[in-house]
Amino acid sequence: MARVRSTLAGRLKGSSQDAGRKIDFKENLMKIARRVSDLPPYLFVEISRKIAEKRARGEEVISFGIGDPDMPTPENVIKRLCQAARDPANHRYPETEGLPEFRRAVAAWYQRRFGVSLDPEKEVLPLIGSKEGIGHIAWCYLDPGEVALVPDPAYPVYAISTGLAGGEAHYMPLTAQHNFLPDLDAIPEAVARKAKLLWINYPNNPTSATADKSFFEKVVDFAKKYDIGVCHDGPYTEVAFDGYKPVSFLEAEGAKEVGVEFHSLSKSYNMTGWRIGMVVGNAEMVGALKIFKSNLDSGVPQAIQYAAIEALSGPQDVIQKNNETYQRRRDLIMETLEDMGLKAMAPKASLYIWARVPKGYTSDGFASNLLEQCGVVVTPGTGYGQQGEGYIRISLTITDAALVKGLNKLATWQCVR
Ligand SMILES: Cc1ncc(COP(=O)(O)O)c(C=O)c1O
Repeated sequence: MARVRSTLAGRLKGSSQDAGRKIDFKENLMKIARRVSDLPPYLFVEISRKIAEKRARGEEVISFGIGDPDMPTPENVIKRLCQAARDPANHRYPETEGLPEFRRAVAAWYQRRFGVSLDPEKEVLPLIGSKEGIGHIAWCYLDPGEVALVPDPAYPVYAISTGLAGGEAHYMPLTAQHNFLPDLDAIPEAVARKAKLLWINYPNNPTSATADKSFFEKVVDFAKKYDIGVCHDGPYTEVAFDGYKPVSFLEAEGAKEVGVEFHSLSKSYNMTGWRIGMVVGNAEMVGALKIFKSNLDSGVPQAIQYAAIEALSGPQDVIQKNNETYQRRRDLIMETLEDMGLKAMAPKASLYIWARVPKGYTSDGFASNLLEQCGVVVTPGTGYGQQGEGYIRISLTITDAALVKGLNKLATWQCVR
């Protein structure tokens, strides 16, 4: 026993030959790989740092930054989660492909919500939050130097995962003139021929633009012509206002032949903290991601999958309640923006208002100005890409009490240009 202990001690210090010799850890620290050291700080990490700095100085800060629902997960979902957590069968490793019941619940939800039929065996895969699958699909399809078509501005993970996998992003500008839809005809023929993946996201983060079925059908035609895999990211299809019902990419004729849709329980059911989402659609693409994930992670904890089944299959009134709250907040924020002289379109869907900054300001400059003058955090549009210059993003996921404070603070803003 003593011999085992001393060998272990040696191994912990270094190799058994090193036992007793003090190791200078600084000298031995390895250089971080360029793929990590070259990464910019993740947008919201940087914003959280600024907020923490101000709060540490005793200043009050109201954040319209991240899109993280402030309302709680519905009680029936929590109850199912607690029940499942007590079952020892759920204390063991889950399967990568997830519980058959989870996959069936997703397929049934897609059928009810969008009229889209999915094979739960081959066309549905659970994800540890959709961000995880979005980050990993690039690794399944992009060899070094290969191209993904990525919108600008966009959720940052599309471009970052492309780069991490060694691929190259070709940016598709989303402009107001084009209703924040990519102009597929503007993509140079040579680039389209080289591209392997195409990212789209509607209702859109950060611009809040929406797309209809005819746009998705154009995307399908384009993808077929150039043999490109489409990745539609649709976590906001359930967050919509004024009676508007967003469509799924998979509703477009032929969509399943060319692509997948990433979806999530995060925003629809106030479940960002539980980390569960799904990828659905093209069986080959879903299968490729399953192979990749089975080598890297061990799936979604089963208790969380049971909670998700309850969310998808149980009462759906949380969605309408959320949307009424967000719509009321949207209207209050729009009024304040108008009083400030800022231009923005009232969003039909998503959790965001995409507002133009006043003349003479940059996105960063204006966001910093609001933080310094009013103690209010908004996200500079450039955090989502170069085309975000001239805009800020304002999130609706702020408690009513903080919203009132935040709007009162914004009402004191004075243009200093
Ligand atoms: C466009 C978009 N896609 C994906 C996600 C990730 O959602 P989750 O990983 O919580 O499913 C987000 C989160 O904000 C998002 O805005």
